[in-house]
Amino acid sequence: MSNYDVIIIGGGPGGYVCAIRCAQLGLKTACVEGRGALGGTCLNVGCIPSKALLHATELYHEATENFTKMGLMGKSPSVDFKKMLEYKQGVIDGNTQGIEFLFKKNKVDYLKGWGSIRSATEVMVDGELYHTKNIVIATGSEPSTLPGVDVDEKIVVTSTGALELPKVPKRMVVIGAGVIGLEMGSVYARLGSDVTVVEYLDVITPGMDADVAKQFQKILKKQGLKFVLGAAVQGVKSTKTKATVTYKLKKDESEASLDADVVLVATGRRPYTSGLGLEDVNIEVSERGQVKIDAHWQTNVKGIYAIGDVIEGPMLAHKAEDEGVAVAETIAGQAGHVNYDVIPGVVYTAPEVASVGMTEEQLKAEGRAYKVGKFPFLANGRAKANFATEGFVKLLADSATDRILGCHVIGPSAGDLIHEVCVAMEFGASAEDLARTCHAHPTFSEAMREAAMACGDGAIHA
Ligand code: NAI
Repeated sequence: MSNYDVIIIGGGPGGYVCAIRCAQLGLKTACVEGRGALGGTCLNVGCIPSKALLHATELYHEATENFTKMGLMGKSPSVDFKKMLEYKQGVIDGNTQGIEFLFKKNKVDYLKGWGSIRSATEVMVDGELYHTKNIVIATGSEPSTLPGVDVDEKIVVTSTGALELPKVPKRMVVIGAGVIGLEMGSVYARLGSDVTVVEYLDVITPGMDADVAKQFQKILKKQGLKFVLGAAVQGVKSTKTKATVTYKLKKDESEASLDADVVLVATGRRPYTSGLGLEDVNIEVSERGQVKIDAHWQTNVKGIYAIGDVIEGPMLAHKAEDEGVAVAETIAGQAGHVNYDVIPGVVYTAPEVASVGMTEEQLKAEGRAYKVGKFPFLANGRAKANFATEGFVKLLADSATDRILGCHVIGPSAGDLIHEVCVAMEFGASAEDLARTCHAHPTFSEAMREAAMACGDGAIHA
């Protein structure tokens, strides 16, 4: 029996980051992972593989659409999907092995197997009992499917199966216009699939600033994605080669159906806690299955903490990572902290969509006095040169104090651009602070500055 200061259950972005930080702070640490590779959903079947496919298909699209416009002549590339999947697997392997290396470097013990909690100080892994002063639950989430929909990961798939299709489907129906549906839907649309997205609500990406969501849908439509909004999926019937999705339109209760070679179910994720033994130690969970925590990520059982997708809040790798660091620091006797008001969200489509802070709808609902500074990428020189003029930056600031309250970007490199506003918000900056910061020319980031200027006397180039 080994003795640890901390055992972390789950080796995803929350768990492995927490483990490394614990070790850095001098705690004897082990991380339990049962999937055979570190990195969790994000590295193995989520963020990283999907980004590899997004990157490859975006370059393919760039080559077929824009190369000749720039005088780059010659044969257009064709798609070898098998090879593309091999490239994706190589990216996964490189990253997961990187974490194993970091574990060794930081002297974190990697316990291979599925862990279960036996008591506040004991974790069982593969029949072996380990003793510990603290436990961190970082077991993440799993796809939550719909009643009447049986996933076989071949014809009816979740994001996991969508990353492993044997060939590019002719027709794909995506259920759910959330982040997964739109990222994977646009990958397959670029590869030539006829993609239809069926969404329950009347808008795509619920929760996103409405201006941005509207523009986003327009751009995706132009890229060939079809949308059926206000449609509740009733069920999916599948054979060995195809599937039929039936849905009911909310406006008139009429029923309709769509045939597809592959159906992607992207209707959200739920906390993953099965086999963890939460009931045995009486750890409280919410009605939605989320592990309940206090302000320091501690569950109702002293010494047992929880972070990431398994607790409340956005299911984002970087939110889990920040919580991992904060819990490690808390266990080490420091003041761990996460600023939940400044957590960026990015949709990695082309163009990217990124946001941080409050949306205009949230500000309205709270009756706040705010001003809006908007700047289109059409007026940005670099965007023009790069065929990336679709989209805009929208900055929201307090009317009285000029303090930045939120920012929403749809356009080139939005996922990178957003971070200057994250830093600004962390420092309590005003729109004028951003507007008075010199931004290099010619860069996309000038659009951020111009949106900040638009909150004041006005942008220069629009
Ligand atoms: P989501 O919650 O973002 O979107 C699910 C969508 O499905 C919603 O728009 C919902 O209205 C719709 N829906 C639910 N039931 C339906 C029905 N019966 N018929 C039609 N539509 C229905 O969930 P998603 O896209 O599956 O993502 C899961 C989680 O993973 C999210 O929390 C997301 O933030 C995270 N994620 C984040 C990524 C990123 O940050 N780039 C990438 C991929 C996932």
